[in-house]
Amino acid sequence: MSKNMLDKMREEVLKRRTFAIISHPDAGKTTLTEKLLLFGGAIRLAGTVKGRKASKHATSDWMEIEKQRGISVTSSVMQFDYEGHRVNILDTPGHQDFSEDTYRTLTAADSAVMLIDSAKGVEAQTKKLFQVCRKRGIPIFTFINKMDREGQNPFELLEELEQVLGIRSYPMNWPIGSGKQFRGVYDRKMTQVELFQGDDHKEIQVEKVEGYEDPLVKKIAGEFFYDQLVQDLELLDVAGDEFDMEKVRSGELTPVFFGSAINNFGVQTFLENFLELAPTPTPRRSTDGEIDPMDDKFTGYIFKIQANMNPAHRDRIAFLRICSGKFERGMAVKHVRVGKEIKLAQPQQFLAQDRDIVEEAYPGDIIGLFDPGIFRLGDSLSQGRNVEFDELPTFSPELFCKVTVKNALKHKQFQKGVDQLTEEGTIQVYRTIGFDDMILGVVGQLQFEVFEYRMKAEYGVDVQLQRLNFQFARWIIDENVDPSKFRINSQLVKDKKDNYVVLFESEYAMRSAMEKYPNAKFLEQAP
Ligand code: G4P
Repeated sequence: MSKNMLDKMREEVLKRRTFAIISHPDAGKTTLTEKLLLFGGAIRLAGTVKGRKASKHATSDWMEIEKQRGISVTSSVMQFDYEGHRVNILDTPGHQDFSEDTYRTLTAADSAVMLIDSAKGVEAQTKKLFQVCRKRGIPIFTFINKMDREGQNPFELLEELEQVLGIRSYPMNWPIGSGKQFRGVYDRKMTQVELFQGDDHKEIQVEKVEGYEDPLVKKIAGEFFYDQLVQDLELLDVAGDEFDMEKVRSGELTPVFFGSAINNFGVQTFLENFLELAPTPTPRRSTDGEIDPMDDKFTGYIFKIQANMNPAHRDRIAFLRICSGKFERGMAVKHVRVGKEIKLAQPQQFLAQDRDIVEEAYPGDIIGLFDPGIFRLGDSLSQGRNVEFDELPTFSPELFCKVTVKNALKHKQFQKGVDQLTEEGTIQVYRTIGFDDMILGVVGQLQFEVFEYRMKAEYGVDVQLQRLNFQFARWIIDENVDPSKFRINSQLVKDKKDNYVVLFESEYAMRSAMEKYPNAKFLEQAP
């Protein structure tokens, strides 16, 4: 690469921020995302933000099932520019549409924004998603939403972050009053008061002050709130954590922002601070050592495959996270697993309606590649180097079904469908010992529905799913595995590679088994 090209590359990498928003349904993720996009004037929206905006859905040609339910089955990507930054937001679907895709999408992000409802605190799904981010050690930024409603005491919320998630926090701003009496926030870094005016006022009143002791604060906030505010801020100064960028970077300390997404209050300040503090595309671990984004050779890996985006064309889109180098349309790259050169002729970043061809893209960006069936999850593409990225863990399923074919004559198609869908990573498959029954394991209910739908639509097979009571799967490593020992509240099965897996009905059953077999190892993932 010439010096000019290297400079350009550097500039492009440094301006990128790629992140995912993690939250429990209803915390306000759609609302926050929409406000962020408003600031940026989105350049590209892959898919829809969410089914709530039903009108957008009508123009999209996503899977039929998605249209029927009016929700987004798989994650989508949104890109916008803001003050010299290029922002990529990876949408992580929640609720029933929660699936392994949700987890995998997090591997493509360099940081996460954790959105919390001030009244509800840390909820179940947030906890799960947080743990995945924690394992990767990526920075996590917290936005505590719905401050215009009666919520929990802010100190209690911070305590909950620490108790439930085990992360320390640094409030970047602090609320003045709450609920009906929410007056705004005191910005600790900028030493200014930002006044809440309700009703989506774009122009938020900001008053610069000398510090929280400044008499002006009392004047603006009102005497009633002032004493409490000073008490809180003093306590934070004395007993709270110090701001430590190193700890933010390693995900040990989360900067916390209070605001109200629906009222567009605190969103812009949040965005600006986030862009300043969040990491640029980070180096990625690979079989060939760490790959630096500035490396001039292109590399990337596929973290998601979306089938049947357009049922008429039966095409699949593979989502690729660029890890290093510059992507150019039409470039030839090595498909590392297969060991062949392929030409990336039709890269796309598709809008709901018309798909937008990408001419060039840089590390941190996500591109959609047309997939005639040559890609698998985790595949890497590279210019010359034989790299593979170890970014795609499999996740321990939590929901299980016994699956049977309604028409025995369709057994061959059934097997083909199951093989392909397992390869895509949509489901995990187990066989019972002796009876050879097939059991499916997933992390989200919707995966069962998608499985059923696709078996019918793509392979012409009607399947019957029978929900089983199991909640946990653990790979068991033991010299002498004895199936008869797993009959009560549990069952021994084999995975596709003939590893032994025990399915448990409850945490209690799992714990007692672990106590009974102290010499055996119970792993959350396949060995
Ligand atoms: P999600 O994507 O995380 O599931 O949440 P979403 O943005 O759809 O928000 C869930 C509900 O919370 C919505 O109300 C939304 O208007 C509301 N909400 C979001 N941010 C705030 C906030 O700062 N303050 C208050 N008071 N409410 C907020 P809804 O009634 O379920 O939907 P809608 O009819 O308003 O669309």
